[in-house]
Amino acid sequence: MKIEDLIKQYKAIYKKFPTHIIRAPGRINLIGEHTDYNDGFVLPIAIDQYTNMLVSKNEDGKIRLYDLKYKENEEFDLKNIKPTQQKKWSNYQRGIAKVLLDAGYEIGGMNVLIFGEIPEGAGLSSSASVEIAMLLCFKELYRLDIKPLEIIKLAKKAENEFVGVQCGIMDQFASLLSKKNYALFIDCRSLNFQYIPLSIQDYSFLVCNSMVKRNLAESSYNKRRQECKDALRAFQKILPGIRVLRDISIEDFLRYGALLSKKSRKRVKHVIYENERVKQAIECLKNEDINLFGKLMCQSHKSLKELYEVSTKELDLLVEIGKDETGVPGARLTGAGFGGCVIYLVKNSSIEPLKEKILDVYQKKTGLVPQFYDIVPSRGAYVEFIK
Ligand code: GLA
Repeated sequence: MKIEDLIKQYKAIYKKFPTHIIRAPGRINLIGEHTDYNDGFVLPIAIDQYTNMLVSKNEDGKIRLYDLKYKENEEFDLKNIKPTQQKKWSNYQRGIAKVLLDAGYEIGGMNVLIFGEIPEGAGLSSSASVEIAMLLCFKELYRLDIKPLEIIKLAKKAENEFVGVQCGIMDQFASLLSKKNYALFIDCRSLNFQYIPLSIQDYSFLVCNSMVKRNLAESSYNKRRQECKDALRAFQKILPGIRVLRDISIEDFLRYGALLSKKSRKRVKHVIYENERVKQAIECLKNEDINLFGKLMCQSHKSLKELYEVSTKELDLLVEIGKDETGVPGARLTGAGFGGCVIYLVKNSSIEPLKEKILDVYQKKTGLVPQFYDIVPSRGAYVEFIK
């Protein structure tokens, strides 16, 4: 939808013009899955699909929301913020207001129009983009002195404590701090980050939505986090110095892994080798080694499927179809898994043949019509002022 049309809609709903437009993107993760909450490494990029929020202040301390996707409005008072079971989509905005107030920031009312471009439940971080956009609305309108890392941590807190998903820090980080044409390498322990130029020659990333919806809160995501905690506790009995799974070296794993339960061993093995793959993937980007990058993606998928057990038969099928095509060095599920999307590293001249093949085989085998998104590595969240 064009900005002018959104402004018109805003005027029709709130009887005045917005003062700012805030845009926060979704993300795909190139490699480094289920590592962020184990203090490991990740390598996401922002995609050119955004949550747009048009906004202006009001003077009565109420947050008024209108979401164009749901064609629903909602309102809450800053003096009494509770999660709601009715219009659940508003819990992200409620959560952001709550964490800001709890942290002592002075905020007031505002009227917000929301236009989300990111498909929900597809593993492209529509929720993190809503959180970041909402937080920036408050920051801009109420001139909050708040640093990027604090924004990221508060947005994650809103999701952890208010929405109830024990997500790591990657999605909020990527939505806020990504840079056009770069991948974002994050060390999730130190929270240091580095922009890695995406030198992938005449290749691109193609995203395919399996159309199997994933709902993090009700899925096994929180269970995986718990399993990692259990595995950590078991490993600490052997090596008390270990604080997080990230601390376990490959040598320690090879020496002591057999002492863990089968499930713990699988989860730990995924996390520590996936961290290694992220480091190797960065070297590949630096050396423009597309083929090795693709191999690492395939290894990551295999590990998510067999060791971390978060893939589905639909995601596996999409990856398999890619493997059989020429000009497709790599494919893997992206995000939490349990449904959602697969990303392909694909030669530009092979994109159309790959899409045709997927449309044909995937539909025949699953009865589902997959959706494609051609990805442009994009910039993180930003603010536009309306003149
Ligand atoms: C979801 C979470 C992230 C991360 C990924 C898996 O997207 O929000 O924090 O854990 O799953 O890598």
